[in-house]
Amino acid sequence: MKCVTLFRQDDHCWQAFGQDPDRPDNVVDTNQYLIRSGASAMLLDPGGMEVFPAMLAAVTREIAIEDVKALFLSHQDPDIGSSLPLWRRVCGADIKVYLSWLWAGFTSHFDRNATFTTVPDEGMEVSLSPGLKLRFIPAHYLHSAGNFNVYDAKARILFSGDIGAALIPRDRQGGMFVTDFASHIQYMDAFHRRWMASTRARDAWVAQVSKLDIDILAPQHGLIFKGDDVKRFIDWFAGLDIGSGIAAMASK
Ligand SMILES: [Fe+2]
Ligand SMILES: [Fe+2]
Repeated sequence: MKCVTLFRQDDHCWQAFGQDPDRPDNVVDTNQYLIRSGASAMLLDPGGMEVFPAMLAAVTREIAIEDVKALFLSHQDPDIGSSLPLWRRVCGADIKVYLSWLWAGFTSHFDRNATFTTVPDEGMEVSLSPGLKLRFIPAHYLHSAGNFNVYDAKARILFSGDIGAALIPRDRQGGMFVTDFASHIQYMDAFHRRWMASTRARDAWVAQVSKLDIDILAPQHGLIFKGDDVKRFIDWFAGLDIGSGIAAMASK
């Protein structure tokens, strides 16, 4: 499992984990993120149960497991949170699990003993430590009906979940960052055209994030955007024809 540091200032740190070489080929590749501030840490989209052993080993190389105080699930998908009962077993029993109110009853199918701190549709602000506030920003219908991004104004990082995702063949994987935006489009084009369904939601998301200062846009699959590639991605997504699956239902 690769681990890269996206931001570090004093005791405030963001790290990305992904491209696990032991991942079975039939399991989609995912990125997991760890935010630390002081002695508190939050895992963003901690991953599916298949990646749990590799993730646990990678995270505990960086921090003590007791420091993981919260899990954030951007939405309900198994690649995001089917590891939930495993994390709850190794972390403290008082770990917080943030999730859209819409999905609490459904995600309980992964872990019926989990209690969730549910996020309202408009999002919310949480303090990871006295010195660090994080904002859960609504990104509904992109692709999930109850879906959130995480924004850290201090680190100027937006965790964007499935928005910005790319599916990159294993033999084309290299670093963790986009280095050539034009050639990266081939790995995210079909994904966004099909998985992102609502043009109205996309437009609202673009308007919302365009007001934020973002140095790094960090998706749950594929490569991470930094610098000018953040705006390149937002502009590309703003103009994309999405909802491609609707054509299959078109009346003949
Ligand atoms: Fe998803
Ligand atoms: Fe995903």
